[in-house]
Amino acid sequence: MEGEFTVKLARSGRLLPVGREESVLDVLRDAGVDVASSCGQGVCGTCVTRVLQGEPEHWDTYLTPDEHAANDRFCPCISRSRSAVLVLDL
Ligand code: FES
Repeated sequence: MEGEFTVKLARSGRLLPVGREESVLDVLRDAGVDVASSCGQGVCGTCVTRVLQGEPEHWDTYLTPDEHAANDRFCPCISRSRSAVLVLDL
């Protein structure tokens, strides 16, 4: 469904659906995965997480345009996914 995607945790293989109204960070926390965060608005970079597969939809203002284009990191507090599955180094 539009706006929804799945996050896959590379280390455990867990699949976590992300609904339209929730952030990746919220979904990770609800699943007991602790990712440090601060601003929650894509500004500070505290939550930056490595992306192993998939294409993030970047909404943060912390990473540079080149870093966005590399698609190997993203800010789960605000950014989403263009691909159906986003595999994270978690
Ligand atoms: S918590 Fe600040 S960029 Fe995500």
